[in-house]
Amino acid sequence: MPYNKITPKTLQQLKNIVGASHLYTSHDQRIAYGKDKTEDLLFLPEVIVLPKNTAEISQIMQLCHRENIPVTPRGAGTGLAGGALPVCGGIVLSVERLNQIIELDEENLQITTEPAVITEVLQNEVQSKGLYYPPDPASRGSSFIGGNVATNAGGPRAVKYGVVKDYVLNLEVVLADGSIIWTGANTLKNSTGYNLTQLMVGSEGTLGIITKIVLKLIPAPQHSLLLLVSFKSAVKACAAVAAIFKAGIIPSCMEFMERQAIDVAQNYLQDTTLPIRATTEAQLIIEVDGNHIDTLYNDCEKINSVLDSFDCDEVLFADDEHTKNSLWKLRRNLNYAIKNYSAVKKADTVVPRASLPQLLKGIHSISKKHGIQAVNYGHAGDGNLHVTLLKEHLTDEYWNREMPLAMLAIFQLVASLKGTISGEHGIGWIQKEYLKLVFSPIEIQLMQAIKSSFDPKNILNPSKIFP
Ligand code: MLT
Ligand code: ZN
Repeated sequence: MPYNKITPKTLQQLKNIVGASHLYTSHDQRIAYGKDKTEDLLFLPEVIVLPKNTAEISQIMQLCHRENIPVTPRGAGTGLAGGALPVCGGIVLSVERLNQIIELDEENLQITTEPAVITEVLQNEVQSKGLYYPPDPASRGSSFIGGNVATNAGGPRAVKYGVVKDYVLNLEVVLADGSIIWTGANTLKNSTGYNLTQLMVGSEGTLGIITKIVLKLIPAPQHSLLLLVSFKSAVKACAAVAAIFKAGIIPSCMEFMERQAIDVAQNYLQDTTLPIRATTEAQLIIEVDGNHIDTLYNDCEKINSVLDSFDCDEVLFADDEHTKNSLWKLRRNLNYAIKNYSAVKKADTVVPRASLPQLLKGIHSISKKHGIQAVNYGHAGDGNLHVTLLKEHLTDEYWNREMPLAMLAIFQLVASLKGTISGEHGIGWIQKEYLKLVFSPIEIQLMQAIKSSFDPKNILNPSKIFP
């Protein structure tokens, strides 16, 4: 169904809802809100609106529903799958003014928040009360909690603590026609009807606009220990991952970084606090946490004895805050560093943990076959590898021909290993063509039927997720 353009009358109606100063139409603003952190993609919206509360969002949606205008909800714009790109034009609805923590309920270990609170701000607030909200995407210093919910974000701690979905208890959502709903209850258990809360988590703004979020919290662990393990073989590093879990340890983080990623990031950050041997092909960052330091030392010893069979180059015990911070800074900056180094195409592959070595080997043989360098890093404990194909010196013609073939082959490999095409970034705009590799037509139709029942006119974040 073709959408309607925004007329001067609609513009005035939008201004009446949000106030003229919270509506942008300038070219510069349209460019700023026409991109996110996905490659270098740009789609210009016709107008950007910045409502301040649920009621205003509801009025905007009623108007857009009536006038058949597409609406792209937007958080901080840190997404990596193009979920916030207004690919059909229309309105970008930025939730940035809904930025308050509403209540920290220390009795029930819950927090109720608006969507535009920066993830790290929420984490720090919670931590100041001795509590813990574990999901920590690399972008936590700038991403919004609402965007994290919309994409079901993860991060390094997911391996022990789970991803965002494991913490969302209840959501207030504005639907495509402006109706306002709560999806569940503020309870730890809920077997009452279909689980609309979990349906909304990870739906990337296609089913509704999240306006309030109730999250579960846990007590903060008192101690953590960190090992930086260098391997002569990247494939062996991947094999060591499953072996550590098999030995009965669940680390709080288990991150993998290939050599080139580390080199590029050290160069980008101008930081070589952690010198790396010439023989190192990859590193694992392994963290254990808990309340009893002796148990953690025991865990590290066990991990060390597992590592004995994997031909390690070096095991560094990072026990001071400065070393730990430098290491995490490097890890969190890999994405930015690599994008600064070369044009890229990224994939957010995930396979069962024990298949990681096969995934890594396969990626490198595909990359060799297509003459494109691949650099890999990610949440190894979850089997979640962020693959980055580097354009480097390749011509546009070569890249445009070979890169899609290499990407397709990588996703086919992932599917053959019983994995899937996104672990934590979402499908958004850039991965939707690959959905059919991991879902049958009937499975995709079921999802589309859900989309139609929430949004029959397909005005909410259209052209996302589905091929
Ligand atoms: C990360 O793990 O660093 C983030 O998911 C971003 C990325 O894919 O690089
Ligand atoms: Zn990640």
